Amino acid sequence: MRPDPVTAPPVLLAPAQLRSLEMRNRIWLAPMCQYMVEAEDGVPTDWHLVHLGARATGGFGLIVTEATAVSPEGRISPQDTGLWNDEQVEAWRRITRFCQAQGAPVAVQLAHAGRKASTWPALPRFSRRRGTVPEFASGWRTVGPTADPFPGLDAPDELDTAQIGRIIEDFVAAARRAEQAGFDAVELHFAHGYLVHEFLSPLVNTRTDEYGGDGPGRRRLALQIAAAVREQWPQDHPLIVRLSATDWIDGGWDIEQSVELARELEKVGVDALHVSTGGAVIADIAVGPEYQVGFARTLRDAVSMPVAAVGLITDPRGAQDVLERGDADFVAVGRAALREPGWPQRAAHELGMRDAALYPGAYQRGSW
Ligand SMILES: Cc1cc2nc3c(=O)[nH]c(=O)nc-3n(C[C@H](O)[C@H](O)[C@H](O)COP(=O)(O)O)c2cc1C
Repeated sequence: MRPDPVTAPPVLLAPAQLRSLEMRNRIWLAPMCQYMVEAEDGVPTDWHLVHLGARATGGFGLIVTEATAVSPEGRISPQDTGLWNDEQVEAWRRITRFCQAQGAPVAVQLAHAGRKASTWPALPRFSRRRGTVPEFASGWRTVGPTADPFPGLDAPDELDTAQIGRIIEDFVAAARRAEQAGFDAVELHFAHGYLVHEFLSPLVNTRTDEYGGDGPGRRRLALQIAAAVREQWPQDHPLIVRLSATDWIDGGWDIEQSVELARELEKVGVDALHVSTGGAVIADIAVGPEYQVGFARTLRDAVSMPVAAVGLITDPRGAQDVLERGDADFVAVGRAALREPGWPQRAAHELGMRDAALYPGAYQRGSW
């Protein structure tokens, strides 16, 4: 039977709320680095306005920005966006205002790339470049839980506790700027082998002080950042955490440890989890359709906060099934949205729903 278009939207297209943030549907734009800050100053550009703005006019329920660094050294590449100064705040404000006017709230993904910072952008014109961008070519010295490098990259400097404290302050300062820039939500990037995941993973974090060792030691930085940001970030705005649920290697970070962390994050006021995997070490990852959804399910069963699933969710019916089965509360779409900014509009059509709210007035005559 076709769902009634007025009273019973398919769950994928049903509105949702996190704290006071209302989303028109449960489809998020996954965070995706564009490497398009050619001035290398962290200031988002016309590219970011058009890229994110097109997905806002395309009907997404929540736009998540690319990894946006809390400090210059926290960038994955020199061409990343940032949120450590007022010029960046102004540039982001233009983007949040535009997306919100199209009915799409915006979350900023706050990030520090740790020992995987200062790398060449993953763009065709840099395809011959490998490893760490050297200091003479606008790179910088990286930092990590220890001085051990990620394979193929330069060795980082081991962070001392005073430096760790400053990084926590950088996250808090960036969250304050996120409020000035008009963001609706903050997503903390604790995934993909960047700084916080480096501290979580026993394969990377071999420290012997309070930030290393056993589970509580390795989880300390994640919890301190989440708690400190939660305190600063407006109470009615949601705080989301993206984590890698597993390193895909025996003896590494795994789903059991992720469950422990998720429960603690919930206690410090995190509102939703965004469940990805991998990135801390080189591993064999069995990539295929919806390959990370099972991890979202396990975490959703273990906590009461909502969970977003991501990873090769490309088919609207498949996405609807993920939510209907209760595997997740939201789905995030990445690469499929690069080729199709109006993915949610087609999803609505394929699921038998006509929803004018997914289209700007000027595009109504082109509705599916
Ligand atoms: C070009 C590109 C850039 C990405 N940049 C980020 C990023 O900034 N932060 C992040 O957490 N994940 C990033 N990812 C991972 C995506 O958010 C997503 O988890 C992944 O692509 C799997 O989803 P998909 O199969 O729908 O693309 C990136 C992926 C791509 C393809």
